[in-house]
Amino acid sequence: RTILLLNGPNLNLLGTREPDIYGRDTLADVEQLARETAEELGFELKALQSNHEGVLLDAIHEARGTAAGIVINPGAFTHTSIALADAISGVSLPAIEVHISNVHQREAFRHHSYISPVASSIIIGAGVNGYKLAVQQLAHLISG
Ligand code: DQA
Repeated sequence: RTILLLNGPNLNLLGTREPDIYGRDTLADVEQLARETAEELGFELKALQSNHEGVLLDAIHEARGTAAGIVINPGAFTHTSIALADAISGVSLPAIEVHISNVHQREAFRHHSYISPVASSIIIGAGVNGYKLAVQQLAHLISG
């Protein structure tokens, strides 16, 4: 069974992007951590990063029938995208929302998430380890 890991805009820059906020781990490191965690728990991981909202929407649609659940860091689309929220509810797959930084310690515009109401769980401010926690929680949810 497959877990889909989606990373949204600018997360391809992880490692060099505002390291004080997001740390020094790269997107490849994050995907490897998530893959190792998934495989230890008997799942396969499919990972995709995109800077394009429509590509993320298509990936969520394609997950129906091919994945058991989704781990998603929607990046700034968290705060803007009704379409991503609609896609997640539309496919009826469990989704765990991840934010590397504690968005609630940051600018007010990061405090609202369109994704949170459709997420099964939300992991915020745990750094890149949040991806590991998210995969563990999703595996727990879909195995139980
Ligand atoms: C983020 C937080 C968002 O506000 C920001 O736009 C990102 C990354 C995080 O992982 O902390 O791109 O989702």
